[in-house]
Amino acid sequence: MEVIQIEVTDNEAYDNNAKVFSGGLNKTQVKEYYDQWVEQYEKDLAPGRYNGPAIAADAVEKSFPRFKEKVTVLDVAAGTGFLGVELIERGYQHLHALDPSEGMLRRAQEKNVYEKFFCEFLTEDKLPIKADTYDCVTCAGGFGQGHIPSGALRELLRITKPGGVIVIVMREEYLNNEDYKNCLEPLMQELHNTGKWMKLEKSIVPKYFCEKEGVVYRFRVLHQRL
Ligand SMILES: C[S@@+](CC[C@H](N)C(=O)[O-])C[C@H]1O[C@@H](n2cnc3c(N)ncnc32)[C@H](O)[C@@H]1O
Repeated sequence: MEVIQIEVTDNEAYDNNAKVFSGGLNKTQVKEYYDQWVEQYEKDLAPGRYNGPAIAADAVEKSFPRFKEKVTVLDVAAGTGFLGVELIERGYQHLHALDPSEGMLRRAQEKNVYEKFFCEFLTEDKLPIKADTYDCVTCAGGFGQGHIPSGALRELLRITKPGGVIVIVMREEYLNNEDYKNCLEPLMQELHNTGKWMKLEKSIVPKYFCEKEGVVYRFRVLHQRL
């Protein structure tokens, strides 16, 4: 029997992604959407069309160019593990993954790039992770409506070692959505102004998702319990 390969068009991929980032879903519905999207996700958001994981991995590498084999990294909103694969290819060896979707994490597990998994939502609440655990905490594509709330930045700070780096990569236009407008960047700035972290980078990058631009943030953690 002839197998017909159906290619996903940019428009279809864009629509599938828009459904979960539209702001109409609560966090349980977002998780359920990802649970059933897994297979198609890897086609819709394949490298080339969605470049967030490679962009985040480059930003991690810029922060930790040496002794990569010693760096402990938490991949927040790890999904199916695209970023884990990018990090392993760059020489990082100690990767943990956090995501609320069992379906996405199961796929990530198959890639054999993570040592540990946390099936959790990142919110303002305490994660089951000790303070000062990671050298690097990174997140590609986890910030968007109905996804990670602005206040969760404080939790990222708590679990990162002083001197460590937090890397966040997201679609630039999401900064203007209801969840983040007047909220996400002001909190980033407040954490900088109060000496909790130091902003190392904010840059706009092309072709984050299709023709949409991305934004890359890097923060050096200073004294999170001041
Ligand atoms: C667009 S995917 C990005 C996945 C992966 N980082 C990548 O770049 O392919 C967004 C991921 O965020 C996860 N997510 C949604 N809400 C979250 C939350 N509050 N905390 C952590 N992850 C969340 C979803 O389950 C999904 O796997």
